[in-house]
Amino acid sequence: MTKIVAVFNQKGGVGKTTTIVNLCACIADRGKRVCVIDIDPQGNTTSGYGINKSEQENTIYEVLIDEVNLDDAIMSTGYKNLFIVPSSARLAGAEIELVTISIREGKLKKALSAIEKNGFDYIFIDCPPSLGLLSINALVAADSVLIPIQCEYYALEGVSQLVQTIQLVKKSLNPKLEIQGVVLSMFDGRTNLSIQVVDEVKNYFKGKVYSTIIPRNIRLAEAPSFGKPVIYYDEKSKGSVAYYELAEEFIDLEEGGF
Ligand SMILES: Nc1ncnc2c1ncn2[C@@H]1O[C@H](COP(=O)(O)OP(=O)(O)OP(=O)(O)O)[C@@H](O)[C@H]1O
Ligand SMILES: [Mg+2]
Repeated sequence: MTKIVAVFNQKGGVGKTTTIVNLCACIADRGKRVCVIDIDPQGNTTSGYGINKSEQENTIYEVLIDEVNLDDAIMSTGYKNLFIVPSSARLAGAEIELVTISIREGKLKKALSAIEKNGFDYIFIDCPPSLGLLSINALVAADSVLIPIQCEYYALEGVSQLVQTIQLVKKSLNPKLEIQGVVLSMFDGRTNLSIQVVDEVKNYFKGKVYSTIIPRNIRLAEAPSFGKPVIYYDEKSKGSVAYYELAEEFIDLEEGGF
């Protein structure tokens, strides 16, 4: 069975892409077959794996407008067990184009239903920072949502809207949708603020928050400019160790290990 996880938070810059790039690389390194779908027109996940988004002909855009099959848009990242359906700048227009198409919210789900036979353990979808049709397509296609939250002032601002959106999609379009988990990111242990945010988020999401917390770490910010997940850029960095731990916690919870 392939599990489809959307990484979503409509707030910008909270660590969605950093989480997907690094968590997926670690899960793949642990022997799981992973495919990442970059449905964000910014294409940061695509470039984070060292892929030039302006050079790709078969991208998630062509899939959404029915020009190619998803199978033909899947490419290797060059890393073990790790594949990607790249983003394209053309995707920026897709939100408008999709409006005129019937089953517009279900385009990605339909495309995905044809590839489960490819034997991926996990498919992760990187969403844009908005509540538009691209994010809705991701939430309709997904089994669950992974929510990154940045440890900063106003961290919980927008969270009730986020939870409402998930509930609305669950009610009207995708009854199986669940919250996979909440990842606290960019934690700075030297500040009381970060510690407070952790408490508030744990209080709000109860048992859904991963015990692994991602620290603020310069290596995580540098790695994308080398087109590498942090485990292949600086394996011993705090960021790398944290994402590897998160991957282990994620897999253990999925497999009922504890
Ligand atoms: N743990 C971290 N330590 C240091 N820098 C980080 C960390 N996580 C993310 N960043 C940096 O913060 C910025 C925002 O992160 P990221 O792109 O992952 O967020 P996002 O939620 O995907 O943003 P968007 O909403 O624009 O898609 C990036 O420059 C990234 O390199
Ligand atoms: Mg992003």
